[in-house]
Amino acid sequence: MNKDQNCTQWFSACSVADVPANGGVCVKYNETQIALFHFQRRNEWFATQNECPHRKQMALSRGMIGTQSDEPKVACPFHKKTFSLVTGQCLAGDECSIKTYPVRVDQDRIFIGIENNTPH
Ligand code: FES
Repeated sequence: MNKDQNCTQWFSACSVADVPANGGVCVKYNETQIALFHFQRRNEWFATQNECPHRKQMALSRGMIGTQSDEPKVACPFHKKTFSLVTGQCLAGDECSIKTYPVRVDQDRIFIGIENNTPH
Protein backbone atom coordinates (compact mmCIF):
# COMPACT_ATOMS: atom_id res chain seq x y z
CA MET A 1 0.00 0.00 0.00
CA ASN A 2 1.46 3.33 -1.07
CA LYS A 3 0.20 6.80 -0.22
CA ASP A 4 0.42 9.86 -2.37
CA GLN A 5 0.08 13.48 -1.32
CA ASN A 6 -3.67 13.59 -1.98
CA CYS A 7 -4.22 10.97 0.71
CA THR A 8 -5.06 8.40 -1.92
CA GLN A 9 -4.05 4.92 -0.92
CA TRP A 10 -3.22 2.60 -3.77
CA PHE A 11 -4.07 -0.99 -3.11
CA SER A 12 -2.78 -3.84 -5.20
CA ALA A 13 -5.96 -5.32 -6.63
CA CYS A 14 -4.76 -8.10 -8.92
CA SER A 15 -2.53 -8.75 -11.89
CA VAL A 16 -3.21 -7.72 -15.49
CA ALA A 17 -3.77 -11.37 -16.45
CA ASP A 18 -6.63 -11.68 -13.93
CA VAL A 19 -8.87 -9.34 -15.91
CA PRO A 20 -10.37 -10.46 -19.24
CA ALA A 21 -9.73 -8.19 -22.21
CA ASN A 22 -12.72 -5.87 -22.72
CA GLY A 23 -14.34 -7.25 -19.58
CA GLY A 24 -14.38 -6.85 -15.84
CA VAL A 25 -13.79 -8.57 -12.53
CA CYS A 26 -14.91 -7.88 -8.99
CA VAL A 27 -12.17 -7.18 -6.46
CA LYS A 28 -12.61 -6.48 -2.77
CA TYR A 29 -11.07 -3.72 -0.69
CA ASN A 30 -11.97 -4.64 2.88
CA GLU A 31 -15.76 -5.06 2.58
CA THR A 32 -16.10 -2.86 -0.49
CA GLN A 33 -16.71 -4.54 -3.83
CA ILE A 34 -15.07 -2.77 -6.75
CA ALA A 35 -15.63 -3.52 -10.43
CA LEU A 36 -12.37 -3.35 -12.37
CA PHE A 37 -12.45 -3.16 -16.18
CA HIS A 38 -9.80 -3.61 -18.83
CA PHE A 39 -11.01 -1.67 -21.83
CA GLN A 40 -8.39 -3.13 -24.11
CA ARG A 41 -9.80 -1.58 -27.30
CA ARG A 42 -9.03 1.83 -25.77
CA ASN A 43 -5.97 0.61 -23.88
CA GLU A 44 -7.55 1.95 -20.67
CA TRP A 45 -8.46 0.68 -17.22
CA PHE A 46 -11.43 1.76 -15.11
CA ALA A 47 -12.75 0.98 -11.65
CA THR A 48 -16.20 1.67 -10.22
CA GLN A 49 -18.37 0.49 -7.40
CA ASN A 50 -19.68 -2.99 -8.16
CA GLU A 51 -23.18 -2.26 -6.89
CA CYS A 52 -25.67 -1.04 -9.44
CA PRO A 53 -27.64 1.77 -7.80
CA HIS A 54 -30.85 0.85 -9.65
CA ARG A 55 -31.79 -2.28 -7.68
CA LYS A 56 -28.69 -2.64 -5.51
CA GLN A 57 -27.35 -5.62 -7.44
CA MET A 58 -23.64 -6.45 -7.12
CA ALA A 59 -23.37 -6.81 -10.84
CA LEU A 60 -21.51 -4.07 -12.68
CA SER A 61 -18.29 -6.10 -12.99
CA ARG A 62 -20.30 -8.52 -15.17
CA GLY A 63 -21.66 -5.75 -17.36
CA MET A 64 -20.84 -5.13 -21.01
CA ILE A 65 -18.48 -2.27 -21.69
CA GLY A 66 -18.66 -0.04 -24.72
CA THR A 67 -18.71 3.58 -25.80
CA GLN A 68 -21.39 6.20 -26.21
CA SER A 69 -20.30 9.37 -28.04
CA ASP A 70 -16.72 8.37 -27.24
CA GLU A 71 -17.58 8.07 -23.54
CA PRO A 72 -16.53 4.67 -22.13
CA LYS A 73 -19.47 3.07 -20.36
CA VAL A 74 -20.70 -0.07 -18.66
CA ALA A 75 -24.19 -1.53 -18.93
CA CYS A 76 -25.63 -3.31 -15.92
CA PRO A 77 -26.53 -6.90 -16.89
CA PHE A 78 -29.89 -6.70 -15.09
CA HIS A 79 -31.84 -3.85 -16.70
CA LYS A 80 -29.15 -2.41 -18.97
CA LYS A 81 -28.79 0.97 -17.31
CA THR A 82 -25.54 2.47 -18.51
CA PHE A 83 -22.96 4.43 -16.55
CA SER A 84 -19.95 6.45 -17.64
CA LEU A 85 -16.73 4.72 -16.61
CA VAL A 86 -15.09 8.15 -16.33
CA THR A 87 -17.58 10.19 -14.30
CA GLY A 88 -19.92 7.48 -12.99
CA GLN A 89 -22.90 9.41 -14.32
CA CYS A 90 -25.93 7.40 -15.41
CA LEU A 91 -26.11 7.73 -19.20
CA ALA A 92 -29.71 6.50 -19.28
CA GLY A 93 -30.86 9.85 -17.91
CA ASP A 94 -31.53 8.68 -14.35
CA GLU A 95 -30.47 10.53 -11.23
CA CYS A 96 -28.39 7.67 -9.89
CA SER A 97 -24.65 7.60 -10.46
CA ILE A 98 -21.81 5.33 -9.40
CA LYS A 99 -18.51 5.95 -7.67
CA THR A 100 -15.38 5.72 -9.77
CA TYR A 101 -11.82 5.06 -8.65
CA PRO A 102 -8.48 5.91 -10.26
CA VAL A 103 -6.47 2.98 -11.61
CA ARG A 104 -2.72 2.62 -12.10
CA VAL A 105 -0.90 -0.13 -13.93
CA ASP A 106 2.61 -0.89 -12.74
CA GLN A 107 4.22 -3.64 -14.79
CA ASP A 108 1.80 -6.53 -14.36
CA ARG A 109 0.01 -5.26 -11.24
CA ILE A 110 -3.18 -3.20 -11.10
CA PHE A 111 -3.54 -0.63 -8.33
CA ILE A 112 -6.81 1.06 -7.39
CA GLY A 113 -6.81 4.41 -5.61
CA ILE A 114 -8.92 4.69 -2.47
CA GLU A 115 -9.45 8.02 -0.77
CA ASN A 116 -8.18 7.96 2.76
CA ASN A 117 -10.75 9.82 4.82
CA THR A 118 -9.13 8.96 8.09
CA PRO A 119 -8.00 12.11 9.89
CA HIS A 120 -4.28 12.27 10.56
S1 FES B 1 -30.10 -3.51 -11.16
FE1 FES B 1 -28.74 -2.58 -12.57
S2 FES B 1 -30.02 -1.77 -14.07
FE2 FES B 1 -31.39 -2.61 -12.65
